[in-house]
Parts: sequence; structure tokens; C-alpha cells
Amino acid sequence: MSTREDLQNLFEENGQGHVFADFDSLSAAEQETLLADCNAVDFSWIATRFEQYKSGDTGATIGGELVPAPVITLPQTDAEKKKEADALAVGEEALRKGQLAAFLVAGGQGSRLGFEGPKGCYEVGPLTGKTLFQWHGEQILARAKKYNTTIPWYIMTSRTNHADTVKYFEDNNYLGFNKKDIMFFQQAVVPSIDFEGKLIRASRGTLAVNPDGHGGSLTALVKSGAIADMKKRGVTTISYFQVDNPLTTICDPVFAGYHLQVGAEMSSKILNKAYPEEKVGHICYQDGTLTVIEYSDLDEKNMHARDENGKLVFWAGSIAIHMISVDFVEQVGGNARLPWHVAKKKIPFLNGSEIVKPADNNGIKFETFVFDALPMTKSSITMEVAREEEFAPVKNATGVDSAESCRQLLSNRFAAWLETAGKTVAKDADGNVKVMIEISPLVALDADELAGKIPASLDTGKDILLS
Ligand code: UTP
Repeated sequence: MSTREDLQNLFEENGQGHVFADFDSLSAAEQETLLADCNAVDFSWIATRFEQYKSGDTGATIGGELVPAPVITLPQTDAEKKKEADALAVGEEALRKGQLAAFLVAGGQGSRLGFEGPKGCYEVGPLTGKTLFQWHGEQILARAKKYNTTIPWYIMTSRTNHADTVKYFEDNNYLGFNKKDIMFFQQAVVPSIDFEGKLIRASRGTLAVNPDGHGGSLTALVKSGAIADMKKRGVTTISYFQVDNPLTTICDPVFAGYHLQVGAEMSSKILNKAYPEEKVGHICYQDGTLTVIEYSDLDEKNMHARDENGKLVFWAGSIAIHMISVDFVEQVGGNARLPWHVAKKKIPFLNGSEIVKPADNNGIKFETFVFDALPMTKSSITMEVAREEEFAPVKNATGVDSAESCRQLLSNRFAAWLETAGKTVAKDADGNVKVMIEISPLVALDADELAGKIPASLDTGKDILLS
């Protein structure tokens, strides 16, 4: 580590001397942490990113000819159902052999939700208030039990939530997992800068930094030793999922099966968009290269284009659920040259000894996105899932994609499972069930599993908890 004098000189030479303005007034502990942050600063990276921002390059590749990627749609015909059954068999075999790992990216800042603490500790159980981490953990344990195997769980955190995440698991007996089957590791952080390219002080003892985006997971998986651990265990395939969607099917055997059948490197799940402008990415060929075009980068014409049957051409929305081969991560992860995406944000900053939360955007965060690895694949599949089965994200404190909408969607899914088993559940005009329903993954992973477990006396006119 460089000395304070060396660092201060270096910062002054690079136009960042303001970081040291109050250095002598800081406590020894504050000086120590600030110096550690300063030591990690890469000035050429900052200069390049600032130039990128000034040039108007947001990190997205826009333009070119866009063609939607082919999709394995929900099976309708007997032939499609047969293909699904074949894929299921392949995925189940891989599960039985212990070749799948669960990988949760939970390093985000969750700023839209505004919840203090790791987002995974947010309570979404309609009746039990079960946390997002619990939902995921129960599902992984249930699937491992079903296939008489162990599914190791890798959890990526970041600087701001690592300690709290690990503590949550320690305090909750690792949610029933064997401690050796859960591995936590941190993704990298990068500095945030203001609109003049200056570093920002987040507090007396720290620079403002942000996690390097979910794309940072590819590097972090390698650097942390997670990939080496997977290889030691015989894991070949990573089931990648986000923290905020309790309906996500982790280690989905059908998805894994389709992915494995063609030796794919990174595959994606999509759903039928609810409306043309829905805020989901589009998996496309852009001038022949597989890529994800974000909703904000899809031009108006393509966004509304319809085929001869009136169906949206870009009907498929990515829900950020992937299968990724261990070999692929090993190959690209150590050297993943993913583009940096630029986002203007409200970044809290130190003013004197006060930390100010600005009302307006005052700086820039740079992030990489995991789906930007798709252009590096030689083989990939895209599979459709049913929205009501797999998508209930918690992004916001209220309204759309909130805990409230998530609880309703969970209840709706469980109602559909009960209906498959012949029960009747009352719904309102919008199709939402009127009672709250919660079924633990430990009771049933899907409608078929639930069928044999419904108590004969079940009263569907009241809240239903099966756990
Ligand atoms: P989001 O894009 O929803 O971001 O992350 P976020 O940070 O959780 O929330 P906002 O945008 O600040 O409100 C999608 C998933 O990717 C993870 C998140 O934890 C979440 O599971 N993620 C995001 C990371 O693991 N690291 C990152 O740097 C960013």
C-alpha cells in the first residue's frame, strides 16, 4: 500500500486532490479506510469512463439489424411436450449427479426498494412474512431432496451488504443448509464520479463506490474460488438467479435439460411481454450477434412491430434467469470484457461533516451486465416460461413490482396449483385471488407435487398456509 504522501501527490496529479482536503482532521480509523479506498483507485479506468460518459456512449450497442432470437415456447403440441419431457429427463439426470449449483446475485444496492439491509432479508411471504432468502433456500433444499443430491448455494454480495448477509445466515442456522454447502463472496466495487469526473466522498472515511453490476459476477465467481469449488464438486452448470423474484425456479430441470442437450454456454428464460413497453430486455440477434437489447434501447418501430398474426415481433422479455456453464465462466470470467453501462444517479456525498442525500442526480455509476456475455457464447438457448409461474419481482416499495404485488402474485400462483388439483378459489374481476395463499417449497415445488398433499378439509374461502 502506498503512503499517504505518495497517494496525495498521485491524486493531485490526476485532478483528484480534493479527496485529501480534510485528511488531517480525520480520525486514525477514517484515515486508514480512506487510504485503503484511495489505493484501489485506477485513474486510467476513471479517465476512460469519464470520456465514455462525455461522448454520450451509454454502454449499449444501438442500431444494426435486429432479429428476435429463436425461443423454445411453452409446449402446446404433443411433439413439443415430448421435447420438454426429454429435456426434463436430461436435467433431472444432471441434478441427480450433483452437476447443478444455485447461484444468487445479491450484491445490488436495492435503491428503489429503499430497504435498510440486504434485499434478501426483505419479507415477502404472504402469510408467514418469510424473507426472500428463505424462499430461495427452501426451494433449493426441496429440489436437492427430490433428487437425492446436494445443491451447493453460491451467494454474491458486495461491500455494503456482505457482513449483514453473512450474519443473517449465521443467525438463522444457514436456513437449514450444511454450512459447507453455502459460499458467500463479494463482487468488486468501482468508484462513482460526479459530472465533472471527480471522485465523490461518501463519508469521512470512504469514497463513493458502487458494486460493478451483476456482470461482475463472472469475474467474482472465478476470483473468489467459487468456480474452483464447483469443479471440485463435479458441478458443470450454474443456475443463475436474482434475489428479488421468489417465483424464480432455481435449478429448473427442464431449462437445464434444454441447455445441456445442445452444450449451451449461457441460456436465458423469457416470458411473453405484458405490453410493448414493458421494462424487460430483448434477446436478439443484432447484425447476427446474440445480444440483449434493453427496453430503453429498442426503437419505437421495433417495440411496436407486429407479425401477420398481430403478435409483437419482439414479444419475448428477458427475466434475468440464466443457465451458465462452469467452463464458460472459467473461460470468460477471468477476463470478461463486458461493456460498462452509464447510469446517472443520486449519490450521497460528504459536505463538511454532513452526509447529504441529493434530491437530483449528481453523479454517475458504472456497471456491467451479465447478459452482455451472451455475444461471447457459441451456443445458447432461450426458453419461454409462464409469467404467473415464474415472475413476481420486488423492485419498489409500493405499486408495480412491490412486496404487495409480489404477495398477490405468489397467492395467485398457489391458487392456480390448487385449481389444477380440482379446488375452487374465489377471484376478483382482475383475476386476483381474494385470500392470501402461501405454500412452502418444502411442501410442493409445483402443481403436480401439491396435488397429493392437499388436506381434504381445506377451506379455500380463507387464507391458506401449507408449510
Ligand atoms: P437490479 O438491477 O434490480 O438492481 O438488480 P438492485 O441494485 O437490486 O436495485 P436498484 O436498481 O438499486 O433498485 C438485479 C439483481 O442483480 C443483483 C441484485 O442484487 C439483484 O439480485 N445485482 C445488481 C448484483 O448482484 N450486483 C450489482 O452490482 C447489481
